[in-house]
Formats: sequence, structure tokens, C-alpha cells
Amino acid sequence: MDVVISPMPHTAAERAGARVAEAIAANPLLVLGVATGSSPLGVYAHVRERIERHGLDVSGITCFALDEYVGLPEDHPQSYHQVIRQTVTEPWGLRADQVHVPAGTTGDPRQAALDYERDIREAGGVGLQLVGIGGNGHIGFNEPGSSLGSRTRIKTLHPRTREDNARFFGGDMDAVPIHCITQGIATILDAGHVLMIASGAGKADAVAKMVEGPVSSACPASALQLHPHTEVFIDDAAAAGLL
Ligand code: F6R
Repeated sequence: MDVVISPMPHTAAERAGARVAEAIAANPLLVLGVATGSSPLGVYAHVRERIERHGLDVSGITCFALDEYVGLPEDHPQSYHQVIRQTVTEPWGLRADQVHVPAGTTGDPRQAALDYERDIREAGGVGLQLVGIGGNGHIGFNEPGSSLGSRTRIKTLHPRTREDNARFFGGDMDAVPIHCITQGIATILDAGHVLMIASGAGKADAVAKMVEGPVSSACPASALQLHPHTEVFIDDAAAAGLL
């Protein structure tokens, strides 16, 4: 696991964004795993700049989102269908058929999870997976206690995650869905490269456990220690717990 510490969050985002842009330039047919939340926004903005100012060609890439809330209509502003549309699909000028998000509103979410695994496999697998980290060490929505061998499936969100994400729902934790569909830890580990982006003191404890703690389902992100090509881009505040 390579850890790159930058003084400021925007520097970490630029470095991670440059990595994503390089990966797309090297493989215009890249299958890119994308994350939602605050952490990757600077990365997406950097890639957008490469597209608009430097002509980075993204017309051949395919994107797979990590997760989606169960039961939130796809046109809800906080559904990950919408969030990915607004932060990746539209700013990068991608076609809708280039972007996949797990289906959280079908009558059969278990089948939707199996279908998502199949879609990733049929696309040739994820080449580069972008991830954030929860304050409790989750990756995707694999909360503490998740099996390290897990695949895409339905999970219950931890109350802390619902509390953390209440900021996207007008501060109302009760408005945050209880269930989600998320790529599993083993699904994430199948990616060719994993690139983590994290910033701020609220992530310091989780980052320290991920990098220096034992590999344990108590900190799902620690499973990334098992991945041969993981790069972690963090700022000084998120690095504060590292020895
Ligand atoms: C998002 C996701 C989550 C977030 C994590 C950090 O698709 O799967 O694991 O990456 O909760 O969220 P932020 O970046 O908002 O702190």
C-alpha cells in the first residue's frame, strides 16, 4: 500500500485526479470504479479539467459506482444514480450507457446485486477503483463486521454512517435510508488498482487502522493491505494518526 501525504486536501485530490487521468490516457477503454460522497469531488473536478483543457478522451471508458441506497427513487437528488450523474456523467460528458449504478429500487434487490456482479464481470472487471473511507473504516458501504470475502449484496447501514450522511439529507438522519446495495470487499479487491482519497481529521483514526492496523473486518478498509496495487492519497489531517 503506497501512502501519499499532501499538505492540503486539494493537493491530494489533484494528485489522485492526475492518476485517474493518466490511467484513462493509458487505456481509453478503462473500466473505472467510482465512489460518491465528498471525498472524490476534487478528483472528478481535476479529471473534468483534463477533459476540457487537455482533450482527455473519455468516450470509451465504462464506470461502475460502488453502491446505492435501497428504496430511494432514482430521481431523488441524493440517490447515487443522481449524484454520479451530477458529479461524473454530466461534467465529463459521458453517455448514460457508459455509467452503471446498482439498482436500488427493483422489486428484487438481491437479484439486482447478482446482476451487478455479472455486469462488472462482463465489462472485463474494474481496472481502477476509486474509493473513499468512512469514519468507521467502511469502504463502499461495507460496514465494520463485513466479511472480507463479501460480494455485491444488500447491507444495513451503520447508525454512524447514517448520521455522517445526514448532511446530504438536510441534517435529518431519519431521512437517510437504512439499507443499501454495495459492492463487497472481495469485489473491490478484484480491481486491478485501488486508489483511495481521504482528507480531514475525522478520517485520521480510520486511516491509521487501515494502514497500520491488523487486517480485520473491524476496519473493512484494512483489507486493502491485501491488494498489491493500492495507492492512498490523504492530507496531513487524515495522516495525523499514522506512526
Ligand atoms: C461512497 C461510499 C462511501 C464513502 C465514504 C466516505 O460511494 O461508498 O464508502 O466513500 O462514506 O464518504 P465521504 O467522502 O462523504 O466522507
